Amino acid sequence: MRALTYQGSKDVRVETVADPVLEANDDIILRVTATAICGSDLHLYRGKVPGMKDGDILGHEFMGVVEDAGRDVTNVAVGDRVVIPFVIACGSCFFCNIEQFSACETTNSGPGGALNKKQIRPPAALFGFSNLYGGIPGGQAELVRVPKANVGPFKVPNTLSDEKVLFLSDILPTGYQAVLNAGVTQGSTVAIFGAGPVGLMAAACARMLGAEQIFMVDHHAYRLEFASHTYGVVPINFDEVDPAEVIMANTSYRGVDAVIDAVGFEAKGSALETVLTGLKVETSSGAALRQCIASARRGGAISVPGVYTGFIHGFLFGDAFDKGLSIKMGQTHVQKFMPELLRFIEEGKLQPDIIITHKMKLEDAAEAYKIFDKKEEDCRKVVLTP
Ligand SMILES: NC(=O)c1ccc[n+]([C@@H]2O[C@H](COP(=O)([O-])OP(=O)(O)OC[C@H]3O[C@@H](n4cnc5c(N)ncnc54)[C@H](O)[C@@H]3O)[C@@H](O)[C@H]2O)c1
Ligand SMILES: [Zn+2]
Ligand SMILES: [Zn+2]
Repeated sequence: MRALTYQGSKDVRVETVADPVLEANDDIILRVTATAICGSDLHLYRGKVPGMKDGDILGHEFMGVVEDAGRDVTNVAVGDRVVIPFVIACGSCFFCNIEQFSACETTNSGPGGALNKKQIRPPAALFGFSNLYGGIPGGQAELVRVPKANVGPFKVPNTLSDEKVLFLSDILPTGYQAVLNAGVTQGSTVAIFGAGPVGLMAAACARMLGAEQIFMVDHHAYRLEFASHTYGVVPINFDEVDPAEVIMANTSYRGVDAVIDAVGFEAKGSALETVLTGLKVETSSGAALRQCIASARRGGAISVPGVYTGFIHGFLFGDAFDKGLSIKMGQTHVQKFMPELLRFIEEGKLQPDIIITHKMKLEDAAEAYKIFDKKEEDCRKVVLTP
């Protein structure tokens, strides 16, 4: 089959590799019909995540048709059209039982798990996400093996196109969990840092839940413009102004109820930050997080869907304490949110597909990564078809 493989920093190639085969009785083989590139893939693409090996197949946002199924698979059958959550969860461990699927303690048996000398349980395995997360081949491919097929694969109605439901795999539940974690409700004031796909999905969900005012921070004017047309956000360009100052000035110097960091550890920060992360003296930039703390009102909440690794300097914990903030973060418990989000799509309350700007062939995936990485051609989101 053809699949997109990692070959080192900024070097990905579509190659012919062996077809996947059923390994466990509850595996399926999926024929991929659509797959997307995520901001998380960019962290891998840029060589910022340890545990990647040359030849690893990337991709964790994908859907398709069940091609083959192990004998214990009862939830789906050959021929079913399904969206696959990027988190691989067993459905029956301590964490799965409390619907914290991304903490599933049984699926990550890769070196990331074994490296863990203190035997602290590793997080769930993720598709196409380095050996730290189980080393499971991803879905930017013609075929993919999906483990735990009685728990993950989610059937979708044929009345909805691939593009309408594909983002149930990751960014839509991620935006949704982000606003729920931030406590967004009717009348909330919200600030979203990062106008990429995750920030846009968070804006859509915040609107749906009745947020009154949404500030959105980025420095790509085309992304901010789209968000202001589509979701009525107040755009703030961090190259031009200090976002927290603007947010404070527009909220009676109180700050917003809810802040979402949809940027993560590669946040564009100061020159010092660039040097420190370049030298790996610190592993994450704190630029977006500091702004989040500065933008929140007392007693407000910060929700962090953006991915962080290791440590950062200048994390103003004292300010967070002084303001009495709540902070929630982590990988999304995708399985938990898929059914209700599908209903919202069917009812027309969410239209995640409108953020798509690029529809390309899997064969052209290397070019697609470059365009999305460099924000060329006003790229917001790429969907690939094999
Ligand atoms: N928690 C999860 O389960 C989960 C799921 C999907 C993605 N993510 C993470 O969410 C983050 C965003 O993903 P995406 O697909 O939207 O990526 P993206 O790279 O397209 O978007 C990130 C945006 O942040 C902007 N940005 C950079 N520095 C900034 C700063 N200092 N302040 C404000 N904005 C800044 C960039 O210009 C860019 O538009 C990534 O870290 C990704 O790994 C997490
Ligand atoms: Zn993702
Ligand atoms: Zn589990």
